[in-house]
Amino acid sequence: MTVTARAHGKVNLHLGVGDAREDGYHELFTIFQSLSFHDDVTLTAADEMSLKVTGRFTAGVPADGTNLAWRAVEAVAKQKGSPARVAITIDKNIPVAGGMAGGSADAAAALVAANELIDGPVLPRDALLALAADLGSDVPFVLQGGTKIGQGRGEELTDVLVRGEYSWVLVFSRQGLSTPKVFGELDRLRAHGKVAPPQLEADELLSALGEGSADAVAQHLHNDLGAAAVSLQPTLQKVMRDGEEAGALRAVISGSGPTVALLCQDAEAVADEMVALGYFALPATGPVSGAHLL
Ligand code: C5P
Repeated sequence: MTVTARAHGKVNLHLGVGDAREDGYHELFTIFQSLSFHDDVTLTAADEMSLKVTGRFTAGVPADGTNLAWRAVEAVAKQKGSPARVAITIDKNIPVAGGMAGGSADAAAALVAANELIDGPVLPRDALLALAADLGSDVPFVLQGGTKIGQGRGEELTDVLVRGEYSWVLVFSRQGLSTPKVFGELDRLRAHGKVAPPQLEADELLSALGEGSADAVAQHLHNDLGAAAVSLQPTLQKVMRDGEEAGALRAVISGSGPTVALLCQDAEAVADEMVALGYFALPATGPVSGAHLL
């Protein structure tokens, strides 16, 4: 038997980062939006666990038990009281280490597919969300999709009233950034008094989303990790400037970067312009759905 599930990448419209907690995580106030980029995870009953990666972005994806999709399958099997014996194929179209929750999308899709494939009682949504939070801070959001506030590590989700569909261009970097390194760089810059204080609320952005005005949303995009990502990869500053000069309403770094997200009125035109400048850039829309069976 074979089951396939799809999960989407995300952008953070607002990413407010508080102080480091005792467990090493940072307290967040973030607004996630899921985007039309997606990975598909196919599970087939087998004699033993295995993992294969196909698609556009395969480099750097672990093909063993450290892969989040593999761990998601094992977590579902354990909860159902059944053995984990599954061949996993990830069709990867979300960039790796790009700040777009690609690994989290694979985990979320694997949770949904394993819940269908593996023998035993079907796990309720709450149980899947709890497993998702154990796998990673962004996994619960990717499982749910849409546009949501994330607090705590990012796993405590609240619905947001959103009108309209938003057009984005994502500009990918050749070199990934490690999420823990970017958070560490923010701590370092803060210790030296070099960055603005944390922005742990986003009332104006929330109003703009309620109005459905892309112009107003653009004005209030914000990422506390932006300065840290730019400090580690200084060329990102120019990518953002080029994006705005190419006609984007506003540029923001997605999550811990280095993908730059451009909110646009006309995403096709901005993507063409960025490609003409030599960038690897693709249009996307949001919000879209959470992880689901195909
Ligand atoms: O939860 P996840 O495994 O995706 O987090 C990866 C790393 O990102 C953590 O080990 C931590 O260094 C950093 N992180 C953080 N605060 C958060 C989320 C992630 O410091 N709220």
